[in-house]
Amino acid sequence: MASASSSSPYRIGILTSGGDCPGLNAVIRGAVCAAVQRGWEVLGFSDGYEGLLSPVRYRPLTVENTDGITQLGGTILGTTNKGRFVAKVGLGQKAQIPAEIIGEAKETLEGLGIQALVCLGGDGSLTTSEQLFEAGIPTIGVPKTIDNDISATAMTFGFDSAVECVTEALDRLHTTARSHKRVMILEVMGRHAGWIALYGGLSGGADMILIPEIPFSYDKIAKEIRERVGDGYDTTMIVVAEGAMPKDGSVSVRGEAKGEVRLGGIGQQLAVEIERRTGRETRSMVLGHLQRGGAPTTVDRILGTRFGVGAVKLIEEKKFGYMVSYQNDEIGAVPISEAVGQIKKVPPAGQMVDAARAIGIVFGD
Ligand code: F6P
Repeated sequence: MASASSSSPYRIGILTSGGDCPGLNAVIRGAVCAAVQRGWEVLGFSDGYEGLLSPVRYRPLTVENTDGITQLGGTILGTTNKGRFVAKVGLGQKAQIPAEIIGEAKETLEGLGIQALVCLGGDGSLTTSEQLFEAGIPTIGVPKTIDNDISATAMTFGFDSAVECVTEALDRLHTTARSHKRVMILEVMGRHAGWIALYGGLSGGADMILIPEIPFSYDKIAKEIRERVGDGYDTTMIVVAEGAMPKDGSVSVRGEAKGEVRLGGIGQQLAVEIERRTGRETRSMVLGHLQRGGAPTTVDRILGTRFGVGAVKLIEEKKFGYMVSYQNDEIGAVPISEAVGQIKKVPPAGQMVDAARAIGIVFGD
């Protein structure tokens, strides 16, 4: 375990929690540089909140040892998305972190002289930081998720990189689909919100986009495919979010881990139903964790860096219990409690869906 002197004028901690996401390292770099400029010290905790518990794991982060990380995917600190700090299960079901766990985390931070803890995480991990704040730990939240489903911020870093990955996959699938005159289905991430499917599908030239916010009908989809064939289009590209579901059905579940359902399988289910109804040869593929991996896009590097700097400014202003947010090209702040209250979903009658429909994209409703 690294040691750090408690005579430092200001010492902050930073950790990354939940599923990883391109841009996390850009936030770390932004926060470290902004903090060091103010003469502060930064300790990076390993494996999310778990690093706060025995055996405590952290290391000092400096301008030198974070040099060159902005362009790296993943997180140099490691992360945990199931652990002892679970504060939310599924969609909106709050869970109380055990008092002894919070107590131990508090002792660790006090022992190290940490005056503020920057927590990078999605909806669940931000709910954890809110509970820690309520227990007297000065936390600052930084919203992270490829799903882009956190309220009170127009965008999260990681989303653009995931969309880029979907776009590239569709570009590749188009050529093989055309050659074989097939229906091609791409299942993408998005448990509760269809942002990745919507943006990726639009940019990658999908003919149909199926999202959790707009339940679909197998019959409508089959009818559309038959009509397309009649119009001379013998391939159909479909992007489906893992959380999409038929009107009279439910989400496809792959399994369960610690009370959290793991979604998956809707793409294959769709392929079976389409072949049965239309007789068209259909293939489906799951893009999976490729969407979370790899280097962040320019947009995510910049947004991540700005969030990191923004988090340090919030500490300076002593706005604990707040989360950095992005609105109208400005980095602002909102109470974490406001952001984790509800998931940001795609508005079915919003401009993006409207634009997609305007160019002939079908939502299967
Ligand atoms: O929160 C992002 C997300 O990518 C979801 O869309 C997906 O369901 C989930 O993470 C998968 O997480 P993991 O397989 O790492 O537990």
